[in-house]
Amino acid sequence: MKAVILVGGEGTRLRPLTHGMPKSMVPVLNRPFLEHTLAHLRQHGVDEVILAVGYLPQVIQAHFGAGEGTGVRLRYALEPRPLGTAGAVKRAAAHLDRTFAVLNGDIFSDLDLGAMLSFHQSRQAQATIALTRVEDPSAFGVVETGPGGRVQRFIEKPHREEATTNWINAGVYILEPEALAQAPPDTHYMFERGLFPLLLEQGEPVYGYPFSGYWVDMGTPQKYLQLNCDLLQGQAQSFLVPWEGNEVRLGKGVVVPPGAELRGPCLIGDGCKLERGVRIWGPAVLGPGCHLGPEAMVEATVLWEGVTAGRGASLTRCVVGSHTQVQAQARLHDCALAGKPAAGGRSVTAAATPP
Ligand code: GTP
Repeated sequence: MKAVILVGGEGTRLRPLTHGMPKSMVPVLNRPFLEHTLAHLRQHGVDEVILAVGYLPQVIQAHFGAGEGTGVRLRYALEPRPLGTAGAVKRAAAHLDRTFAVLNGDIFSDLDLGAMLSFHQSRQAQATIALTRVEDPSAFGVVETGPGGRVQRFIEKPHREEATTNWINAGVYILEPEALAQAPPDTHYMFERGLFPLLLEQGEPVYGYPFSGYWVDMGTPQKYLQLNCDLLQGQAQSFLVPWEGNEVRLGKGVVVPPGAELRGPCLIGDGCKLERGVRIWGPAVLGPGCHLGPEAMVEATVLWEGVTAGRGASLTRCVVGSHTQVQAQARLHDCALAGKPAAGGRSVTAAATPP
């Protein structure tokens, strides 16, 4: 089966981390997020993927090329301007002549795509939308279904009391080419507010496929951090970086000095330098080439490549972008930082995120 992954968004909710980096390239357990998605799709029988790119496409293309080493063949559909979720897929329509999957590029889940395809086929659906259940659906697209899972109504971001169900659009679809044919070409157009409601209006068979496994939209710093921690703590599994138990996994050339305290689960990238008295309390991830000064402390935190933390600095529940320097004795918690100059030459320092 072919799949289209939507990776054209600017990832504004993940700023400042996504200044200069597409959301699909942010490291999760020290590998670009999109690599995890491709590994998941490959496990479920997808052999060709079209990446619908728009924001910083060259960063994605330079890393992935034609998919060498990923196990899937990659193509790119480039938008001159953002065309929205359905508009972006429409651009790839020439390559989509059979049933295909579409995925939002910021979703991590253990959805069984093969089972979803069987569901789609058994109902002869034009479109099937994966549904996941959330506590509070008010920030999501709620999908009401009837007998057999047929969609009856879409409610975008309902007030809490207005939501009749907690099942929301999980951002993974299976579609027939005939359904995509209804989307206008070269027009900004969305699945959620455009194509799916249109298909419903036309009486086409649109189904919801509920699944109860792991699901997260990692598009905010909190959810991004949660994903990394969940993978290290066994709440979620990656086909790319398998993880078990409270391991302390050290990269090449990492030396743990006397007096340092490392509590798993934690992943320390190649070439990290840890000084005496360092404490790392998992779940924690250090990208390659990080340097923790004497007595520095990291807890429930993700550091990207080349982060430096000075003597006695302490970081709790933080995400720190590549090559950021954290000052000695700094006390940081619940924040996302990126200290590297942004594309325009402006230096982004800190952006606090609510705990
Ligand atoms: P925020 O700015 O933080 O909302 O992020 P986003 O726009 O990157 O993500 P959003 O959650 O709004 O979109 C869901 C998925 O669709 C993400 O993977 C986006 O990359 C992707 N996406 C959104 N709009 C477009 C678009 O116009 N073109 C393409 N190709 N992808 C899109």
